Amino acid sequence: MSNRYAIILAAGQGTRMKSKLYKVLHPVCGKPMVQHVIDHVNQLQIEDIVTVIGHGAEKVQEQLGDLCKYALQDQQLGTAHAVMQAESALSGKSGTTLVICGDTPLIKAETMEELIALHERSQAKATILTAYADNPTGYGRVLRGEGGLVEKIVEHKDASDEERYVKEINTGTYCFDNQALFSALKKVSNENVQGEYYLPDVIEILKQEGETVTAFQSNDFEETLGVNDRVALSQAEQILRKRINELHMRNGVTIIDPLTTFIEADVQIGQDTIINPGSSIKGNSVIGQDCLIGPNTEISNCEIGDGTEIFQSVVHESMIGSAVKIGPFAHVRPNSDIHDSVKIGNFVEIKKAVFGKGSKASHLSYIGDAEVGENVNIGCGSITVNYDGKNKYLTKIEDNVFIGCNSNLVAPVTIGEGAYVAAGSTITQNVPQEALSVARARQVNKEDYVKKLKFNK
Ligand code: UD1
Ligand code: MG
Repeated sequence: MSNRYAIILAAGQGTRMKSKLYKVLHPVCGKPMVQHVIDHVNQLQIEDIVTVIGHGAEKVQEQLGDLCKYALQDQQLGTAHAVMQAESALSGKSGTTLVICGDTPLIKAETMEELIALHERSQAKATILTAYADNPTGYGRVLRGEGGLVEKIVEHKDASDEERYVKEINTGTYCFDNQALFSALKKVSNENVQGEYYLPDVIEILKQEGETVTAFQSNDFEETLGVNDRVALSQAEQILRKRINELHMRNGVTIIDPLTTFIEADVQIGQDTIINPGSSIKGNSVIGQDCLIGPNTEISNCEIGDGTEIFQSVVHESMIGSAVKIGPFAHVRPNSDIHDSVKIGNFVEIKKAVFGKGSKASHLSYIGDAEVGENVNIGCGSITVNYDGKNKYLTKIEDNVFIGCNSNLVAPVTIGEGAYVAAGSTITQNVPQEALSVARARQVNKEDYVKKLKFNK
């Protein structure tokens, strides 16, 4: 195996997206396109990855961090010009260079690996990944000559009517002999309809020099989709969503309706978990085994144990234990830590709160900035009053506490272990362990008072 390098082209503005966001940063299944590309490239054994950045350079760099080196393309003069910017990073090195566009997020690592393997086997100077498109409009066409050998690639805009009938397209992914690539690039001109330096022209140049150029034909056009506008973006989303869902199903997850289930690329789900329709699972969420998720549930960046049930609820950036029951219509906001066997019931909102094992807030509560111990029962309608208009304060509820319905716990306040708070109380001072705290006016019944009212005849 020779040395391997990769160049990712990500400097374009993406005019056809008509967007403030640079094209390669548009997410597909929750992850920027260029991140998909680099994650796939990273699965190969590549010595140096150079990403060519230009439009939105800082944003792209911020996204990819130290996963690669960077080359700046100040002016976007075309894909050949873009690759040339990587010269100082790679020039003179011997080996194989994979070039891939930042707008083809669906090309799998296995396909790249097969392309590189074919390239190395055939000792070619260039190997193009091609595919057959039912509708090849917009793509470069692969023109083959005698014996079916690749002659050159012609861009859609430069192609004759006859050439436009060709359905074999350039996917924008290639392998090159590194040294041959950089010497051929110097010969690329910009005499074409777009006035750009086209990378595909390198193929014809190498061919004319008598070098071997081969093609690896993918049998899956969907995989090679190039995202240039929002229509293609939605197609990419659909294709990837299907791929992700199928992967989970093959791993033992039941997805009742894959068409309405949106699972982002990096989510992990354990066996025998069932996902009901209308659910979105996002970010780096990790869901355990035997869970029941949905319907109509949104989970993002959560770690969830085994056997937990989340119905019709929204759960963000939190830790959720095993055998927890959440919903329906609950909202768990960021930085919450819900331990095992907790119940967060109907219309309950939790924010930045710890819930100890077995505790319950079953109905209509707001618990924010709180530490709730184990086996606590928070009665219907009780809330933590965590905000004085300026600052937020902590409410501590120790183990085995019982909070009666419709209580206000005005923070900062601590309810000692085993204490009871009477229903309807507004608690402004700490409650000692095992105490019963009643903090409301005593009831007065005025017998026959209604009869005395003037308006009552
Ligand atoms: C390109 C190919 C086309 C192929 C298609 C596959 C060329 C000339 N055409 O067309 O043959 O069928 O991909 O999807 O290569 N970029 C830069 N700097 C530039 C120009 C582009 O970094 O100066 C980057 C873009 O950010 C993008 C990639 O290169 O990630 C491809 O550019 P794009 O404009 O999308 O090319 P296509 O028209 O799709
Ligand atoms: Mg493109």
